[in-house]
Amino acid sequence: MQLTQSSVGRKIIMAVTGAMLFAFVCVHLLGNSSLFFGSAALNAYAQKLHSLGPVVWIFRLVMLGLFTVHIIFGIQLTLENKAATPDKNVQIKRLKTGFAAETMVVSGLVLLAFVVYHLLHFTVRVTNPEIYVPIEGGHGMVDVFVMVTHGFQQILPVLLYVIGMGFLFLHVSHGFQSLFQTVGLSNDRTLPVMGNFSKLVGLVLLVGYVSIPLLIIFGIVR
Ligand code: HEM
Repeated sequence: MQLTQSSVGRKIIMAVTGAMLFAFVCVHLLGNSSLFFGSAALNAYAQKLHSLGPVVWIFRLVMLGLFTVHIIFGIQLTLENKAATPDKNVQIKRLKTGFAAETMVVSGLVLLAFVVYHLLHFTVRVTNPEIYVPIEGGHGMVDVFVMVTHGFQQILPVLLYVIGMGFLFLHVSHGFQSLFQTVGLSNDRTLPVMGNFSKLVGLVLLVGYVSIPLLIIFGIVR
């Protein structure tokens, strides 16, 4: 309870939930990369996940909880910071923080919209009925390789994913640095190093994720 009542406590909650969401994003990218090893590899990975049954649902509920807490506390902390910043300091604050830091709520909300679209596209499977075909001998399971490779042959989804990943880069490149600050790993001397490291982490995710739709739409992966 006390943790949620102080601004330091709320920052710790943001750091912990952010780190867990970040871990998911890394593991998800690794899992998705099995696409590069062909249809059998990606479908085997998807089937393995689905075979976990109730564990999948527990995982989904935990993810939903993390996401909700991260968004609510993120908005609350931003509003508190704004209220504590007199107008005359806005210019100084801008110089000290930068674009990614100041657009954290916007990039977070765009990511939320992206995740909703992504779930409708690949999990609930309602946006593109033509790409959801059953896998041979898979007892009605969808062929995930066909779903992804056919899904990214259309320009609109590719564009939406690339834009979404751009915001993921923006969000992670500041979020990671913030996390270091909250856990006390950053000071005036290490701050620039942490800043560059965070951008590098964001860039690795950006390149990893956008490579999937781009390699597919350009016909390199099929
Ligand atoms: C090129 C980028 C991406 C690809 C190709 C991709 C692929 C997929 C696929 C195929 C599924 C469905 C798995 C299945 O049900 O068999 C899925 C689910 C999901 N993806 Fe992604 N994904 C991408 C990016 C992202 C990003 C950036 C996030 C988070 C910010 C994300 C979050 C999720 C979530 C939360 C699920 C639902 C997991 C569940 O079923 O519980 N994805 N993704």
